[in-house]
Amino acid sequence: MDEVKDWIGLAREELAQLDVDEIKQSGVLPGGGKQFFPVIGYPPLTMFSEMDDTALFENFEQRPANKTIAYGHIPFCPSRCTFCHWITKTKTKAEEVDVYLDHLEQEMSLYRSKMGMDSIPTSSVLIGGGTPTYLNPKQMERFLKNFTRHFDLSDCTQFSIEAEPTTLLGKEGLEKLAIMKDYGVHRISLGVQSFDDHVLSAMGRTHNNTDTMESIEQMRRAGIENVFIDLIYAYPGQTVEQWVQNMLTAINLDIEGYQLYRLRIRPHGDRDGNILKVHTKAPEKFPEPDDIQLMKYLGIMMSEKHGYGEHQTRIFARKANDISHYLRDWACDLADVAGVGVSSWSNLRGVFSMNVGDANLENYYKLVREGKVSVNRGKIRSADDERRRCFILPLKNARVSKQTFTERTGETVEQCFSTEINVFKSLGLIEENDSHVWLTPRGRFFADEISTQFFDPNYLPFPDVTRVAEMA
Ligand SMILES: C[S@@+](CC[C@H](N)C(=O)[O-])C[C@H]1O[C@@H](n2cnc3c(N)ncnc32)[C@H](O)[C@@H]1O
Ligand code: SF4
Repeated sequence: MDEVKDWIGLAREELAQLDVDEIKQSGVLPGGGKQFFPVIGYPPLTMFSEMDDTALFENFEQRPANKTIAYGHIPFCPSRCTFCHWITKTKTKAEEVDVYLDHLEQEMSLYRSKMGMDSIPTSSVLIGGGTPTYLNPKQMERFLKNFTRHFDLSDCTQFSIEAEPTTLLGKEGLEKLAIMKDYGVHRISLGVQSFDDHVLSAMGRTHNNTDTMESIEQMRRAGIENVFIDLIYAYPGQTVEQWVQNMLTAINLDIEGYQLYRLRIRPHGDRDGNILKVHTKAPEKFPEPDDIQLMKYLGIMMSEKHGYGEHQTRIFARKANDISHYLRDWACDLADVAGVGVSSWSNLRGVFSMNVGDANLENYYKLVREGKVSVNRGKIRSADDERRRCFILPLKNARVSKQTFTERTGETVEQCFSTEINVFKSLGLIEENDSHVWLTPRGRFFADEISTQFFDPNYLPFPDVTRVAEMA
């Protein structure tokens, strides 16, 4: 227990040096730090409007080509977790999963033929969900065989899959892992969320801590090289002490890395998670902003002191190359994305699209049967959208190259964002030189909040944010 106290004491001391109060008083933290909106893409999904796949592929050949990454969505899960806002289906029978795979295969084939390619060359892959490892071994083999036929992975630097512990257990779990390994999967991110059994049960998870440890063992037995886990902090009832214990357990697992998620209460797409209802009913059960900041700081500080660097915002790894290449290619190289499956999204040469995101899979099946990639919303980016995207994504995840920005947008960073940059420089949150703009350690602590300040004012997720552009 003394060790826990010591970590908390040290984190308080170091955090005081960041002078969070000054940033709070500047008004740039929504709800004084109570509200939180992670910046994943730009423009945000909430700004998409009705669209079908014609706009995604129209004049495809005439638009400038980027590096392409691939995303595949498997919407099935062992249970519906309280905090989750994604589109998922629980306890689905194997025959229903087969029907989904039939349509997914058809969609992949449509996708590549609409791109005019025999197979789509991809630099990194993420298969997400839902829970891709919900598939049984036969289905996993079938899915991967088809996926690797439609997507060309010869220059792929990372093939990553999301998993849930119970789906990797026993003989069947090992069989699935061996199949994944055979098809080139070498990074798995396991949804652990917490090491406390009572928290897992409140989250509606089907696994306990013993299952978590066993599933990590199974990945090692199968020879998966890059084992990552997901943990959530700021869960209702969670104390700072419990979070330190969770961090100590994660660090002692001797895995390649982990991703630390602050609990997101507001949804980001089609579906509200139950957590929003829990919050509306009993907001007092949730940790206070000061404690949330302390948990976040503890995550960073304890990781760094144990050799896990924050190589991507909220992703910690012992080796820099073990981070998510999918996120790196998306955010730093502004890659195109070919996304297949219900609720997946694509980004092809200036056009964003989102597939139908409905737990009733019939709507997805109908579009595919009509010979369409199942897009139902999207956004053709304006020049302003493009400028903001080319600044926001590298700023949040790495650093902005001024030259790349100008090559992509035809304008200079200074022409577009000098007001915001100057205010953030005066607050010690951003630094720049002749070639780059980047977040200082103090700025990285508020990477999402700062990135949001570069949004078009009409796209802001929260109304109560002081715009730094108006503070200048
Ligand atoms: C799409 S989920 C897939 C993982 C896998 N299905 C599982 O949960 O075992 C990816 C990760 O997003 C995180 N996540 C989902 N909903 C969240 C929320 N409301 N707030 C914070 N993180 C969340 C979780 O840590 C989860 O592991
Ligand atoms: S967190 Fe994972 S397992 Fe839980 S409902 Fe969401 S996608 Fe499914």
